[in-house]
Amino acid sequence: MNTLLNINDQEILLNRFPKSNDKNLQAWDSSDEYVLNHLHSLNLSNAKIMIVNDSFGTLACALKDHQLFWQSDSYIAKCAVEQNIEDNQLSPTIEYLDSLTAPKITPDVVLIKLPKSNALLAQQLQLIGEIISHDTIVIGFAKAKDVHNSGLKLFQKYIGDTTTSLAKKKSRLIFATKNNAIKNNDNDHLTSWPLPDTELTIFNHAGVFANNQLDIGAQLMLENIPKDLKDGYVIDLGCGNGVLGLGVALANPEATVRFTDESYMSVASARLNCEKGFESQDRFEFDWHDCLSGYDYDQADLIISNPPFHQGKTVTDHIAWQMFHDAYRTLKHGGTLRIVGNRHLAYHIKLQRIFDNCTTVASNSKFVILDAIKY
Ligand SMILES: C[S@@+](CC[C@H](N)C(=O)[O-])C[C@H]1O[C@@H](n2cnc3c(N)ncnc32)[C@H](O)[C@@H]1O
Repeated sequence: MNTLLNINDQEILLNRFPKSNDKNLQAWDSSDEYVLNHLHSLNLSNAKIMIVNDSFGTLACALKDHQLFWQSDSYIAKCAVEQNIEDNQLSPTIEYLDSLTAPKITPDVVLIKLPKSNALLAQQLQLIGEIISHDTIVIGFAKAKDVHNSGLKLFQKYIGDTTTSLAKKKSRLIFATKNNAIKNNDNDHLTSWPLPDTELTIFNHAGVFANNQLDIGAQLMLENIPKDLKDGYVIDLGCGNGVLGLGVALANPEATVRFTDESYMSVASARLNCEKGFESQDRFEFDWHDCLSGYDYDQADLIISNPPFHQGKTVTDHIAWQMFHDAYRTLKHGGTLRIVGNRHLAYHIKLQRIFDNCTTVASNSKFVILDAIKY
């Protein structure tokens, strides 16, 4: 796998996070190169640059001589940029921002890689539109196959006049200029839906998993929530909007529930749902984190999860592996990992290997609920 990016007279060592030898998992793509080359041709020095959705820190490393405001929804992306900055022994001036926080200055340049979801793009462009001036250079970038009219319309709606470049190496740039007449009042990018058989409404920040309806795997899990946890300690691992942990909290009024996810919008949604659904917040905890890395051994009675099987656009089982290993470490002896997964993912093989046991709790034609106990 190529880990050395040669760009604009710099050689940068770049890895994904976690590091991988898989040749399909390169840390940058041709759209990163296209936007960096374009920016280089503009000959800017000492610019204040806002970078949005830099998957593994390529832009942050390459633009190290500027003042950087680096915004991402992904905790993994933040780990990657920190790792790559360290590996290249760089010391950029960089402020890290979560996806609901804007820089306190007006950037000279905004570089935004198109995210997977148009809902997240709309929320990010609205936030950008509120802090830029007519002189700010706004450039979107992505693989050409990911640049659709629907996305371009969002640049038009939230920023102003929008044009696109020619495609180069199957990538495309989007140029937008702030139109000061645009005033968007649709500040509310939340979606919501009622949680069946409860009085709860599930709210979702932009781009969160299952933001329009209950996931069918999660539904099967909610039909199989343990009810005997008393004052146990439960972790909802990869919580999304928190629907599984909320199910645990409803069925076990004394249990403490910790919601963790690598997506900031997810953790923010889970927090909002606890605030809206429960009077007391004392038994809820929230953590923007990569799986359970660094968690203490032997602390949880139950870990509940609907694991992801892709990272960004790449299908992978490494996150499930990491979640299961981390869960084994973090569970108390006698504690249970309960997961829901698509049958074809065959999670029972992984669980059997790590826990040396695995039982099927429930199943339907598509999904299976599995328990593994740490003895
Ligand atoms: C299939 S969704 C499940 C969401 C929610 N539990 C549900 O059932 O609707 C998987 C979740 O795992 C999160 N995730 C992905 N990689 C992660 C990681 N390394 N650490 C923690 N969470 C992660 C995703 O952001 C996503 O919210």
